[in-house]
Amino acid sequence: MSRFLDPRLNNLMPYTPGEQPQAGKFIKLNTNESPYPPSPMVIEALKGKAQTLRLYPDPECRELRGAIAGSYGLDINQVICGNGSDELLAFIFQALCPKGAAFADITYGFYKVWAQLYGLNTKVIPLRNDFTICLDDYRALDETLFFANPNAPTGIALGPRDIAALAQERPDRLIVVDEAYVDFGAESCMQFVDELENLLVVHTFSKSRNLAGGRVAFAAGNRELIADLNRIRFSFNPYNISRLSQIAGAAAAADRQYLTQCSSKIIAARERTAGEIRALGFEMTDSRANFLFVRHPGLKGAEIYSKLRERGVLVRYFGGERIEDYVRISVGSDYEMDALIDALRAICREKFK
Ligand SMILES: Cc1ncc(COP(=O)(O)O)c(C=O)c1O
Repeated sequence: MSRFLDPRLNNLMPYTPGEQPQAGKFIKLNTNESPYPPSPMVIEALKGKAQTLRLYPDPECRELRGAIAGSYGLDINQVICGNGSDELLAFIFQALCPKGAAFADITYGFYKVWAQLYGLNTKVIPLRNDFTICLDDYRALDETLFFANPNAPTGIALGPRDIAALAQERPDRLIVVDEAYVDFGAESCMQFVDELENLLVVHTFSKSRNLAGGRVAFAAGNRELIADLNRIRFSFNPYNISRLSQIAGAAAAADRQYLTQCSSKIIAARERTAGEIRALGFEMTDSRANFLFVRHPGLKGAEIYSKLRERGVLVRYFGGERIEDYVRISVGSDYEMDALIDALRAICREKFK
């Protein structure tokens, strides 16, 4: 720490992103990226576009927002784009939490970092023992509520109608639904954005749209909320999405068929893997995401992580209270899942021989 750091930031605990090793070193199942390339429409749209990098990108992201609005049946003014959903969520924590923020004890780890960064009053609400969210615990809270749905790293999904009902009860309180993983078998709250002025839905193109490296995401909500977020964006970085990413995002948004194709393959691989590793004695939550959250009664979480790593398979181990036995495994291609299953089988054989 230098002597120039603002003392208010002395105790800030930054987010630790998943490891990004050199290409080819591991079967990489640790940060929930897609195993598939971006849509062929994205590859085509980017051809010959490098020379346009001379110019700044469109600060209004008109083409990208138009494609997203068209794809989800929204008005373009109900959409704001971000450099990944991390940026949009940071704006929301900064600007739309006048009474603080509330979220689950086990959820996307970045929420508590932003809450701390912006000095927010924070309520952390424990999940039930089975890792489900009890919405009743949130009814009386005045803080802005954040739900990752499906939740991360559990993959467990809430019903969108239950979230909408909670929003309807208290129109004075904002609910933010982070739907990073919704395309892998959960139901979206997007359908309620028109009728509920206190609902913001955040999507990313990093997972189901196969564009983690492009950093493209959007939030959808009431026009005034989107205008508020744009006030922050234009006070921070109006050119927040690069030219190439805007082009890639617009093409990806237009290709719903490819999204469905890739998501279906990932859902099938998830279910197959779940079945095969259950047979090895692993237990897991009911994941509707592109990852499995698993434990084994005879193995410690850190042990599963390190033994897989020794065998060239990289998964995510968080540690910490209530989840020290678990690892999160991203769902990859069939080939990657076969390698994972073989490695887990070998680990079990060695441990329980
Ligand atoms: C629940 C959740 N929300 C948001 C993000 C951020 O995604 P990105 O910034 O790539 O859009 C992640 C990333 O893993 C996530 O798990």
